[in-house]
Amino acid sequence: MSRDKPETSAADFFPKRKSLKAFRDAAADCKGCDLWERGTQTVFGEGARHAQILFVGEQPGNEEDLSGKPFVGPAGRLLDDALVAAGIDRAHTYVTNVVKHFKWEPRGKRRIHKKPNTREIAACRPWLEAEFSLVKPKVIVCLGATAAQALLGPQFKVTKQRGKFIKSTLAPHLIATVHPSSILRAPDDETRQDEKRKFIDDLKKVAHVLSKS
Ligand code: URA
Ligand code: SF4
Repeated sequence: MSRDKPETSAADFFPKRKSLKAFRDAAADCKGCDLWERGTQTVFGEGARHAQILFVGEQPGNEEDLSGKPFVGPAGRLLDDALVAAGIDRAHTYVTNVVKHFKWEPRGKRRIHKKPNTREIAACRPWLEAEFSLVKPKVIVCLGATAAQALLGPQFKVTKQRGKFIKSTLAPHLIATVHPSSILRAPDDETRQDEKRKFIDDLKKVAHVLSKS
């Protein structure tokens, strides 16, 4: 078995009916990898049925795990602000993650985020592919290295290649930028403001490419 072709995957839990709702319902019972045991629930993507922009993050965080909705915690609030600043209506977007369960480790009373590994990412990939093929976005935006490397290969460097449109068969336009959580982790306020401005600039490029198409 190759590392990228897990024995069990999300594909084993696919519904008969190929609709977004059928996929969401089926994903709720997914046991395609071991992460289903650790998370509270599957956090499937959410948003407009035929959104022009589809955002891909890494995995749900603490608040997403509890609410069952993607990007509703601190990173989601930063994303919301940045979308407003870039003139993009979140209601016209679809937001999801490469991995649909929260992977965490206990530290005291807190649950600390742990990065998903290659196997978990590969096992969960069929859900993401289904979302791509049903939503059919004009632009896919990778938020952070995990999403960018999952879609563009392990050599992809967000630090060097962010904010540039990249040729892909996944959508007419694809671009990667930083993960909003990385902005929240900036060491000081000035850096944080600066990083946020750059993030908004990347989102403005997305709005611009859509206005031309
Ligand atoms: N970080 C992510 O990558 N995804 C979420 O849904 C929330 C935080
Ligand atoms: Fe299924 Fe993905 Fe959850 Fe693993 S992380 S159990 S593949 S939904």
